[in-house]
Amino acid sequence: MTAALLSTKGLSLSFGGVVAADSIDFALHPGERLAVVGQNGAGKTTFINIVTGYLKPTSGHVYFAGQEITGHSPRDITLRGVGRSFQLPQVFGEHTVRECLLIAASVKSRRPGGFLRPLAQAVDADAVDATLELLQLGARAHDLAGALPEGQRKLLDVAMALMGKPQLLIMDEPTSGVSTDEKHGLMKVLMRALDERKVTSIFVEHDIDIVRQHATRLAAWIAGRIAADGPPEQVLADPAVIRNVIGE
Ligand SMILES: Nc1ncnc2c1ncn2[C@@H]1O[C@H](COP(=O)(O)OP(=O)(O)OP(=O)(O)O)[C@@H](O)[C@H]1O
Ligand SMILES: [Mg+2]
Repeated sequence: MTAALLSTKGLSLSFGGVVAADSIDFALHPGERLAVVGQNGAGKTTFINIVTGYLKPTSGHVYFAGQEITGHSPRDITLRGVGRSFQLPQVFGEHTVRECLLIAASVKSRRPGGFLRPLAQAVDADAVDATLELLQLGARAHDLAGALPEGQRKLLDVAMALMGKPQLLIMDEPTSGVSTDEKHGLMKVLMRALDERKVTSIFVEHDIDIVRQHATRLAAWIAGRIAADGPPEQVLADPAVIRNVIGE
């Protein structure tokens, strides 16, 4: 087995009396496409927030590409190669779609003064256009991000994350707020983009059909713990998962 890309050891975090992460041991390998399922409040977003530096764990460790990153800043973790998209897309609504990608690319630039230089000079415009096409946002390039329908806002959030050239992309509910009809097309575009860029991924998803179609592995969260983890069909047949997650 290859070395883990991302791993955690004994990761715990409580909010008052609520144990949102309960001693989580986890490892993800390059090339995996992990779906995460679990009821509302199970701790899915908390796990993502700890791993990406938005929350500090009470105890435990996070490792990425062989180095400990526990408690590092979100910016440092992004620069190391972990991208993320959000449950509520974090786009710059008052800027155009193209400008959002320019901003994302320059903020993530390692070059000194990157953010202070004129945006168009600070980044490779070809990389912006290629990413717009990859996420099928080319026709929307000059529209305001705030005017996009939810599905395209989700694609833009991922496009912005891809400008940082991540090795791993963690997507928190990429299809939430999108109609069942649109969800499938949206996931196809996202997954094709990640394949093309050779990005390993984790995505939180409530729709079991989508999980079956797109995940190579499934982890089910129950009350701050990973209750089952393995091939999707095996996890979906687990009695605790059927009781707690699928029957929700
Ligand atoms: N910043 C916070 N302060 C206090 N409690 C929090 C905070 N963030 C999360 N929690 C609590 O931790 C638990 C796990 O929340 P989390 O958001 O991780 O769940 P989730 O699995 O992502 O749920 P959902 O499917 O609704 O997004 C919940 O009980 C939640 O209320
Ligand atoms: Mg959540």
